[in-house]
Amino acid sequence: MRKKIIAGNWKMNILPSETAALVKGIAEATKGYSNVDVVCCTPAIDIPAAVAACAGTAVQPGAENAHWEPSGAYTGEISTGMLADAGVKYVIIGHSERRQYFGETDETVCKRTTAVIKAGLTAIVCVGETLAERDAGKVDEVIVRQMKEGLKGLSAADASKLVIAYEPVWAIGTGRTATPEQAQEVHALIRKVLGDLIGIDAAETVRIQYGGSMKPGNAAELLAQKDIDGGLIGGAALKADSFAAIIAAAAAK
Ligand code: 13P
Repeated sequence: MRKKIIAGNWKMNILPSETAALVKGIAEATKGYSNVDVVCCTPAIDIPAAVAACAGTAVQPGAENAHWEPSGAYTGEISTGMLADAGVKYVIIGHSERRQYFGETDETVCKRTTAVIKAGLTAIVCVGETLAERDAGKVDEVIVRQMKEGLKGLSAADASKLVIAYEPVWAIGTGRTATPEQAQEVHALIRKVLGDLIGIDAAETVRIQYGGSMKPGNAAELLAQKDIDGGLIGGAALKADSFAAIIAAAAAK
């Protein structure tokens, strides 16, 4: 049995001064849900406030990106060691917005993921096709490539520090969700490719989240699918009540 994991991706929202209230609201509303991992991945500048607010609660702090070098002349970047030192536990890697706007490639995803796991943190590695790729019948091709290139060099020993997020780009922030069947189909493919990469037994232990307009109203049917082990939530993670409702749906599974 894989423990469900619901993570918020705050993206470039929520001020440092607003962070404690949101984390505390989520912690309060989800007290007692010990069968779900709850994570808030925040902008880097919110991390100290998020870490402080998470202390003594079941909510775990996360980041939205990390550089692969341990230190050096990389103006504007943040290393995995810095994140670990600040108290971060999870790091989102390869989000489609980073691929689309900031030059993220499968190769840099691989470097970042390797560095995150080496630092003892858990990587939430995002994969997903665009609408044009889906319409061209290229979903499998895109997912297999992102997985094989992005996770190159990982082994079964890394499985406990790895989460995959399937985020169809056409479903992000659009209100358009993949149907549970569409999502399950890709999640099953992801698990099969993971099996090829790190072995079937290890692949069975890796949590695969769905992301893309997941909301209180559709979370339960998505989370009921065999290979959907959680959610990576954007918009609905910015309010304690909607995020807590999704966590409640996961806890009920
Ligand atoms: P929305 O939930 O706003 O569609 O965003 C999903 C996402 O990109 C999470 O990483």
